[in-house]
Amino acid sequence: MSQLENKKILLGVCGGISAYKSAVLLRALQQAGAEVRVVMTSSAQAFVTPLTFQALCGHPVYTELLDPEQEAAMDHISLARWADMILVAPATANFIARVANGHASDLLSTLCLAATIPIALAPAMNQAMWNNPATQRNIDTITRYGYRLWGPDEGDQACGETGPGRMLEPETLLRRASDFLKPGPLRGVSVLMTAGGTQEPIDPVRFVGNRSSGKMGYALAEAMRDLGAEVTLVSGPVSLNPPSAIDICTVQTANEMRDAVMARVEECSIFIAVAAVADYRPASVAAEKIKKRSDSLNLELVRNPDILAEVAALADPPFTVGFAAETEQVEAFAEEKRRSKGVDMIAANQVGTSEGGFESDRNSLTLLWEGGRESLAMMEKSHLARQLSERILKRYQLERGVDE
Ligand code: CTP
Repeated sequence: MSQLENKKILLGVCGGISAYKSAVLLRALQQAGAEVRVVMTSSAQAFVTPLTFQALCGHPVYTELLDPEQEAAMDHISLARWADMILVAPATANFIARVANGHASDLLSTLCLAATIPIALAPAMNQAMWNNPATQRNIDTITRYGYRLWGPDEGDQACGETGPGRMLEPETLLRRASDFLKPGPLRGVSVLMTAGGTQEPIDPVRFVGNRSSGKMGYALAEAMRDLGAEVTLVSGPVSLNPPSAIDICTVQTANEMRDAVMARVEECSIFIAVAAVADYRPASVAAEKIKKRSDSLNLELVRNPDILAEVAALADPPFTVGFAAETEQVEAFAEEKRRSKGVDMIAANQVGTSEGGFESDRNSLTLLWEGGRESLAMMEKSHLARQLSERILKRYQLERGVDE
């Protein structure tokens, strides 16, 4: 059976010369078993008529945001909820700019804004438009928002120029959609994670905390989601956009993080502690801002609960993965942590050096488990997260006897 059998795809078509290829894509998606509805922007209709798509698709094409007749058939919010994914092919520079800026000025951009499902864009534009810093900035923005970018391809362009900007061919887009929608190996598996740092208040304006951007935890949450897992992320304060299709619970202190984790841990099969939890908190929190009246100030700190150790010590614990950020003797300290906390796998990294670590976009890791180890080289955190998610999946399947 095709991976696309019974999948519902909303195909968005923008105004570019490659819009004619979208008709071929529509047929290919249907032949693979997908149910497709088409939304066209007004400029797309200058290249191909809605009737072409309607005839192929067997359903009216959606073109207007404020058309009472179309809204009566299926309003735009229901349309965004109906689909398993939105695929915009071709996605023009103008359309990408609209979604990067949160516009809801036409039906297709409104659907993207209202959607909680994955959205993939297949860019198509002149190579200079693609290379323009404004477009590249918009691409960065939408990638951070969780949009998938499929393409563009490089080569000869309809305008006579050569370079990046060609829409991927329909058969390539069909393959990408099929790979993307195939059920992940962790389908139905519930994963609970912590990420970011905690903040332990001293008074209403100050706190004790750990350095952490949350980037590794958020990237790993997305990688686990992409393997099909249902991910819940208990996050300390971070300045990152919430990833799509992940349940986020925001907390501030270690105690709040602990309570949020313990309230959810029973339902999860895998627990991953990425958070840089403050090990200590002020013994008391001043009700008013502390004034600088003396030359020195003593803060009494008391231990915070160790969330990872508490989860690993449960009578029926989930598969547990911890992190160990070390400045020296990385592997030895990490192995000691793995044993003392009783976790299944630990991911150790060196901090306090010029490359990798807390606020960086790159990192490297050494993975340790009972009787084994593996090093993952220095790379972008999003790539590293993907590699780590695959190792977690493998160890989880092996240790829990789950069929691959
Ligand atoms: N951790 C946790 N709760 C804490 C402290 C740490 O869940 N109160 C988790 C972290 O999320 C990480 C792992 O434990 O997965 C290791 O944390 P780390 O701070 O590196 O180690 P500690 O156990 O705190 O030991 P130390 O500070 O002495 O290195």
